[in-house]
Parts: sequence; structure tokens; C-alpha cells
Amino acid sequence: MVNRNTAIVICPIDKDTFRDPDYKLAEAVGLAEAINLNVVSSRFVKVGRISPATFISAGVVEQLAAEAAETQAEVLIVDTQLSPVHQRNLERACKIKVIDRVGLILEIFGARARTREGKLQVELAQLTYQRSRLVRAWTHLERQRGGGGFTGGPGETQKELDRRRIDDTVTRLKRQLAEVTRTRALHRKSRAVKPYPIVALVGYTNAGKSTLFNRLTGAAVMAQDLLFATLDPTMRQLKLPSGRQVILSDTVGFIDDLPTHLIAAFRATLEEVLEADLILHVQDVTHEEADVQAEAVVDVLGDLDIDGEDNVRVMNVANKIDLLPSGERGKVTREFADNAGAAISAVGGQGIAQLLKQIDTRLSERDTFHEYTLPIENGEALAWLYRNGEVIARRDNKKTIKVRVLLAEDKVGMFEKKFLN
Ligand code: GTP
Repeated sequence: MVNRNTAIVICPIDKDTFRDPDYKLAEAVGLAEAINLNVVSSRFVKVGRISPATFISAGVVEQLAAEAAETQAEVLIVDTQLSPVHQRNLERACKIKVIDRVGLILEIFGARARTREGKLQVELAQLTYQRSRLVRAWTHLERQRGGGGFTGGPGETQKELDRRRIDDTVTRLKRQLAEVTRTRALHRKSRAVKPYPIVALVGYTNAGKSTLFNRLTGAAVMAQDLLFATLDPTMRQLKLPSGRQVILSDTVGFIDDLPTHLIAAFRATLEEVLEADLILHVQDVTHEEADVQAEAVVDVLGDLDIDGEDNVRVMNVANKIDLLPSGERGKVTREFADNAGAAISAVGGQGIAQLLKQIDTRLSERDTFHEYTLPIENGEALAWLYRNGEVIARRDNKKTIKVRVLLAEDKVGMFEKKFLN
């Protein structure tokens, strides 16, 4: 039987907390459950003034220590960013392992990473986080051993050893990562010869990206009701109704409060988003906090230097409309369509045809279809079209070759000047 560690989740609330506390807490519990913790209790903790020693007040710490002893909980999740000192003191006072929001998100990333690059990035981020904490992080190994051994950091000498080992591992990981990144860049370069536009799916965690990706490509990417079911971009080729080929890329779920240094660490994994010709921002419009979630995604995109409100590059997609009452469904559909977006149900399939058409339209605003009849001996012109555009159809006759090709605006001029005069 899988041994599930028990956990208490607390959500510190202060006067600057602008999100609805209920949803914030529900999300923290969801994150804890996503790494298979058994949450035995969860609640808010009001923070008037941050305690320099333990972040939360001594009285609350005492209550938590008693509760931990009583429920035999093994982990305390604190849904905020704690300093290493806060974390260590809380662990000592409550006598259980403490994980803050960053640690929790790293755990989730670690469990979800699929590509080698993703795994290396997570491991590196985890080690860097651990090194700053002095205490050993809660490793997968410890979890497999089934609890216990969480409390009390190792002795000083042990810490020194651990630190040196971490440094060695960090050096090794960085080397491996550089190698993997180099290989990926080479792959990307070879793909650039066949320049299919990239369409990237982004969205708040649980918005339905993987489900949509599967529906569009028929690929078996795991979709589950777990937050962050996707970590690494997964790419598949997709043919649109016009015949245009695109590469569809599924990406990591974004979340509110994602620490900036984590985004930096995952920047390479998000390269497909950075390079995307069109970004589909998938939104769960049935979620009570849909607006806050959409804003968080726009913020994360901003950290990647992408203007999330830019309607040329970003297309808003309302998902889960099957759950809306019919009147509202019509309203949402019109609202998104009016802004060059689409409203769909990734599960039920409603609106998918319109979505594909809309993607085609949006991409054709950049590229246009052209037909050329080339003399058969003009191999150079044909090769140029293959290199610089996307040949959709080709008919070889006795003396001519007829091609239907998609070309970017500037390429049309270049081609006609070079070969059609
Ligand atoms: P992360 O990987 O965490 O970022 O999630 P995601 O955005 O890839 O979401 P995923 O596709 O895993 O879907 C999350 C949950 O929403 C799953 O339980 C899906 O079945 C459900 N879901 C997705 N699309 C729809 C939809 O159109 N309608 C309904 N009713 N449920 C949906």
C-alpha cells in the first residue's frame, strides 16, 4: 500500500492578501494533495505582524505544535514564502517537517517533470533551495521510507558534508543541463528548416490545457484532476482545416505567486512559449476566481517578456463552457469571439471546430497562401519555397510544377523579386 504522509495546511492571511482566502486555502490543499499528502486539517492564520522568529505568532505556533502531536501529522504546509530561519524555527517548535509554498511547488514540479531537461531543471532548483535552507529538504527518499526522520536538521559536520555534496551535484547537473539544452537547440534548428508555426497552450493550473491538447492531437498526455499535471512542454504536429501544419505545444500550468526565480529556472523549458507564433491562453471560465487566474497568467507571461494582453500574439480561449447554464454560455461565447478568441469545451468538444478555424485565421493574418506555377527546370525557386515557406500542395506536370504555398508577407516580396521577374 502506498504510504501517504499526513499534513496540516495553513494559509497565512494578512492585510495585503487580495485573493479570496477560501479559494487560496482550497488551492493550497489542492497543491498538497497533488503530491499525494493526506491533509488532516487546514485553516487560515491571521498574521498581523510577522514574527521575526517563526513568521506566525507564538500562540499560533503553540496551537499548531499541539495539533501536530495530536493528529500525528508529519508535515506542516505553510502557504507563503518563508525565510530559511522561519522554516527552521517552525520545524523545531512544532517538531514536524515544514514546507513553504516554494518547497511545495518544487515538489510538484519534481513529481511531474517528464523530459530530461525538465527533470534536471527541477533537481537544480531543488538543490539551490535546499542549500539556502541548511536543513535537508524533504526528499522523495524520505517520503518513500514513509515518514519519520523529518524533524531536526543534521549535525554541523553532516551539514558541511551535505553542502559540499550539494555543490558537487550542482556542478554536475549544470554540466548535464548545458549538454541537454545544446542538443535541444540543435533539434530546434533542424526544425526551423521546416518552419511550422508554433501554437503554445498556456493557462492557470487545472484550466484544461492537457485535455485540450489531447482532443486536438489525439495524443495520450496524462490529464488528471491534479494541479500541475503538465510540466514540460509536449509538442505534436497538427493539421488545421486549411491544410496548414502547426506544432502544438502543451506547457506547464501557471500559478499565482510563482516565485520569479523559479520562472527563471524554468525559462528554458518554456522556450516554446517564448518562440510561439500564437499563444492560446486557456481559461476555466467556470472557476469563481477566473479573473484572478487570468491575471496571474498574464503576470507570468510578463515575467517571460510576453505581453499577455497583446491580442495579436495571444488568443483567449474560454474552456469548460459545458458547465455553464445555456444563457451564460451564449454570452461567454460572444464575448470571447468578439475579441478574436473562442469558447470551447475540451471535454465535450463544443466549439473545437471554431477554435481551429480561429487559429487558422489568426495565423493567416501573418502568412498568406500563394499559388505559383514554376517551370520544371527552376529547381532553385522550388527549393527556395520549401526553405522559406510551407508547401501545402504540389502538382508535378510535364513541363511545370504547380505549388500552393504559405508565405510570410516579407517572403512573398522576396520570392517574387528573385524568381518571377
Ligand atoms: P495542469 O497540468 O495542472 O496545468 O492542468 P491542465 O490545465 O493541463 O488541466 P487538465 O487538462 O489536466 O484538466 C484539469 C481538469 O479539468 C480535469 O479533471 C479535466 O477533466 C477537467 N476539464 C478539462 N476541460 C474540461 C471541460 O471542457 N469541461 C469540463 N467539465 N471539465 C474539463
